[in-house]
Amino acid sequence: MKSKADALPRLMQAALATRYGGPEVIEFKEVPLPACGPGMVLVKVEASAVNAGDARARGLQVAQPMRTLMRLVLGVRRLRKPILGTVYAGTVVALGEGATAFRIGDRVFGATPGMSFGGHARYAAVPQDSAIARMPQGADAGDLVSLVFGGATALFFLEKAGAAPGKKALIYGASGAVGSMAVQIANIQGMTVTAVASGKNRELVTSLGADNFLAYDAPGFTLPAAAFDLVLDAVGKLPGKLAQAALKPGGQSATVGGTTVSKETAAHMQTLAEWFKAGKLKPVIQQRFAFEDIIKAHELVDSGRKVGSAVLMMGSGE
Ligand SMILES: NC(=O)c1ccc[n+]([C@@H]2O[C@H](COP(=O)([O-])OP(=O)(O)OC[C@H]3O[C@@H](n4cnc5c(N)ncnc54)[C@H](OP(=O)(O)O)[C@@H]3O)[C@@H](O)[C@H]2O)c1
Repeated sequence: MKSKADALPRLMQAALATRYGGPEVIEFKEVPLPACGPGMVLVKVEASAVNAGDARARGLQVAQPMRTLMRLVLGVRRLRKPILGTVYAGTVVALGEGATAFRIGDRVFGATPGMSFGGHARYAAVPQDSAIARMPQGADAGDLVSLVFGGATALFFLEKAGAAPGKKALIYGASGAVGSMAVQIANIQGMTVTAVASGKNRELVTSLGADNFLAYDAPGFTLPAAAFDLVLDAVGKLPGKLAQAALKPGGQSATVGGTTVSKETAAHMQTLAEWFKAGKLKPVIQQRFAFEDIIKAHELVDSGRKVGSAVLMMGSGE
């Protein structure tokens, strides 16, 4: 492994979910740096985020029989990989054998692959061929990291629902991490966007480029019938029958709430970085937390009311 003057510490600070449960199960520990194997890069993390995926894994927040399945995948009694965190932004500090795509000192951001997690630590090791891209020059790591989870998920599911310029799109649940990115991305992709969120988030969602806004908590709320080419349920709470009724004949719907799992790619990261650099895609961050306050970030996610992302700023320290 090549590293910067072999100056890496042996141990690092990490936040571990030591058992399944609420935010209080998160504990800080000193652990060895992750192994930077062949084809991998080691990133000194500047920013991460606590996302719905982290909260779901930490609290096994799914109904049976998925819960049993999840235990089998993640660990029967406790998480096999207790350092959560699916997103990161930071600086490459070491290269595994044969890793040539990045150089030491590159600032990168991305998603840790599959169920590997690992972003809630001072260092994360990721394959160079995973969903990783260079940060635009001078970009703020917190801004970039806030795009990853929602942005990649929105890109994946919009494509699945047949996104194309000129289409009329309905984005249901437009204020969360996925929804706030989906509204912007559908807009960038040239679609006419109707966004649904609670009335308190009208201003934010409209500022993201929604052409029309519907408040799901307004008296007599209904979706227009047979009005959309594409319906994306970005929060997994729109009954399938209502989604179907809102579609024009031949329209397509997708939901984040089903069994389909989005797959993030390096191409997604490059697209998000380009749109960010061009000023087309804005970070939506409810709050930035110091790494030490990660439990508060988990609590915000568990509230179910999070607007955009809950970003963790790692600060200095090993
Ligand atoms: N299948 C996949 O691959 C995949 C990938 C990523 C995420 N997901 C899932 O997608 C869901 C959303 O993720 P996220 O990160 O965007 O979550 P999030 O940021 O925690 O979502 C919170 C937002 O949802 C809104 N909301 C809550 N109940 C609502 C309702 N009944 N109708 C409309 N909006 C509602 C809230 O707004 P109000 O306060 O206004 O209600 C809040 O702004 C999660 O369940 C996550 O697990 C799935």
